[in-house]
Amino acid sequence: MPGRTAYPVLFQFVYQNVIHKSVVEPDQEFAYGCDCKDDCSNIETCTCLKEMGEFPYEDGRLKVAMPIYECNSVCGCDPMKCKNSLIQSSHIHSNLEVFKTQHKGWGVRALSPIKKGELIGEYLGELLDMTESCARSSFYNKTGLVYLFKLDMGFEPIDEFGTDDPSMLLVDAVFYCNITRFFNHSCDGNMNQITFFANHKDRAWQRLAFFTNRDIEAGEELTFNYNCTTEKNRCYCGAPSCRGFVD
Ligand SMILES: C[S@@+](CC[C@H](N)C(=O)[O-])C[C@H]1O[C@@H](n2cnc3c(N)ncnc32)[C@H](O)[C@@H]1O
Ligand SMILES: [Zn+2]
Ligand SMILES: [Zn+2]
Ligand SMILES: [Zn+2]
Repeated sequence: MPGRTAYPVLFQFVYQNVIHKSVVEPDQEFAYGCDCKDDCSNIETCTCLKEMGEFPYEDGRLKVAMPIYECNSVCGCDPMKCKNSLIQSSHIHSNLEVFKTQHKGWGVRALSPIKKGELIGEYLGELLDMTESCARSSFYNKTGLVYLFKLDMGFEPIDEFGTDDPSMLLVDAVFYCNITRFFNHSCDGNMNQITFFANHKDRAWQRLAFFTNRDIEAGEELTFNYNCTTEKNRCYCGAPSCRGFVD
């Protein structure tokens, strides 16, 4: 039952992922970047932008939902000028409030209007490998509250039973987190979860950020589609397109 939980009441707010000891260091072969002298907004010259095919933002807002390859600490560009590091250089969107929903436990709402394409923040927690995540899941599943997020873009199941690739990593927001841990599911969510890469382009080290996919009014709850396929728990999103289940 959301809201009453066996999880620790105290969790630690963090500003970057905490790496669990189970996680293998990224392959340094994938730590590379551009050598721009300008502001990294030119698709012809910035090799980080070339990975995306276009500059992802217009007036600082995401144009279309797509994976983002940000400049990083191995890039030669000037961080003060670089326009391709929005997510890494931003904090959580201001003017958000955690509130108690009627049927979904805690949630997050906007206290002022937010425009389509605005960055809300990164999903942060503890970075786990698959083995550690499976060990924790057997307990977490009993609580009915799920805070594990698979970093699965570009990974395929390894067999016909849908078994996850063991080299995939997950973010667990139970013990370490930020406000994004309270984002509830909606079958018609008003945010997109966007995969991005920063210091490592190793696919296992992808990260997740939320951007709004439409204009949001003050007081509106911020939600995203968990894209679950199971039919365990009833969904209370209230959207006309609700599939009936969450998780
Ligand atoms: C990441 S947590 C979201 C924050 C959570 N409501 C809390 O109080 O901490 C995900 C859990 O919230 C609940 N939840 C999220 N969206 C829901 C929905 N649309 N309907 C019912 N429960 C929902 C489910 O228990 C789900 O496992
Ligand atoms: Zn560049
Ligand atoms: Zn740059
Ligand atoms: Zn729903």
